[in-house]
Amino acid sequence: MCRICGSTVGEFFDFGRQPLSDTFPEPDRVDDEFFFRLAVGICESCAMVQLLEEVPRDRMFHDGYPYHSSGSARMREHFAGTARRFLREELTADDPFIVEIGSNDGVMLRTIRDAGVRHLGVEPSGGVADLSRAEGIRVVTTFFEEESARRIRAEDGPADVIFAANTICHIPYLDSIFRGVDALLAPGGVFVFEDPYLGDILELNTFDQIYDEHFYLFSVNSVRAAARRFGFDLVDVQRLSVHGGEVRYTIARPGTRPVTAAVEAMIAEERERGMLDHTTFEQFGANVKRICGDLVELLRRLRAEGKRVVGYGATAKSATVTNYCGIGPDLVEVVYDTTPAKHGRVMPGSHIPVRPASGLTETRPDYAILFAWNHEEEIKQKEKAFHDAGGRWITYVPDVRIS
Ligand code: SAH
Ligand code: TYD
Repeated sequence: MCRICGSTVGEFFDFGRQPLSDTFPEPDRVDDEFFFRLAVGICESCAMVQLLEEVPRDRMFHDGYPYHSSGSARMREHFAGTARRFLREELTADDPFIVEIGSNDGVMLRTIRDAGVRHLGVEPSGGVADLSRAEGIRVVTTFFEEESARRIRAEDGPADVIFAANTICHIPYLDSIFRGVDALLAPGGVFVFEDPYLGDILELNTFDQIYDEHFYLFSVNSVRAAARRFGFDLVDVQRLSVHGGEVRYTIARPGTRPVTAAVEAMIAEERERGMLDHTTFEQFGANVKRICGDLVELLRRLRAEGKRVVGYGATAKSATVTNYCGIGPDLVEVVYDTTPAKHGRVMPGSHIPVRPASGLTETRPDYAILFAWNHEEEIKQKEKAFHDAGGRWITYVPDVRIS
């Protein structure tokens, strides 16, 4: 049943049993991993693409949540720019107030703090929330939902901007989120969020964007329908190139802001591209199977040739690739990553060991699968020595390639 409108959801792909994508077990504690059925479908009525099974939120977002937003220079720049834009365009009244849902380690709010503007991060994962607090950013360690939003409104007053990046698509209970936004948002304020875009996922075959945390794969059409259902208007959309292609949605109370032409234009484009057609989703499923087949075939061939193959970037995305395609330590011996919290652990489900990124230049493997393909430019530049010494990168979206 659709989490937005209650209609029937037509399943279009089943990845089978999958582990939590951001839980990296210790090597000797792999016996009690949590698994769920990762399947995705589209609502026959409101066209919202969503998972068919929901993982309890406390299993995913807790004190040990290992994802640190500030790990990428490009993302630090992206969010500094986002904050500067809010400061320039929205936070101009007397004593403005901005709330961020899913503020993580403070990657966006840091710039707001520097400007001395009143802010609050709402971040349930205690470890990353503490990191930002240590930098003087104001954060409350809790889930954003109707109740917490009402509490914030009572204590801090209305918010001129409510912002969320890569977080709203993680939250099945959007009804509660919108009621919370309604309680907290100033009459003329905006609710702005950005998430991976279904159009890019279909176009680039980025099937690894589908995992436990990504409950929704948004399109402009489905977000407009959801906003309307919960009493708001979608007033603007903007495409972003980060994380493999995203859309930033701007939502406001009805009649408070003009709706830009970009909204209708993108919905028309989605219709033209067949983003509501069953055949599009069937084709996507066929592409996923082809890519996995090609990738495993390549890895087996390289193993037979005696080549050393590693992974780069212990991303949440890679959990879907390794576990769906059946890639274990026999095909990829180790995954290098810069996140200290992942070191000495193993990858969820596949149990490939995770080690510090310095291992790439120290051990000089023949090939590295770029699991963090969304940071391709940054990583290839940083790890130039690997390529200069003859190492080669393997990417798998939009198809399997060696470079
Ligand atoms: N905004 C950051 C972090 C994205 S990761 C970025 O774009 O890089 C998603 C974050 O959302 C996690 O830190 C997780 O703890 C948080 N989160 C999940 N559910 C939430 C909720 N209901 N309210 C607030 N934050 C939530
Ligand atoms: P990311 O692709 O941003 O997200 P997700 O986990 O949601 O799929 O994760 C990037 C991962 O790659 C993270 O574990 C840090 C790692 N990384 C490196 O090892 N080196 C780098 O230069 C960068 C940018 C990231």
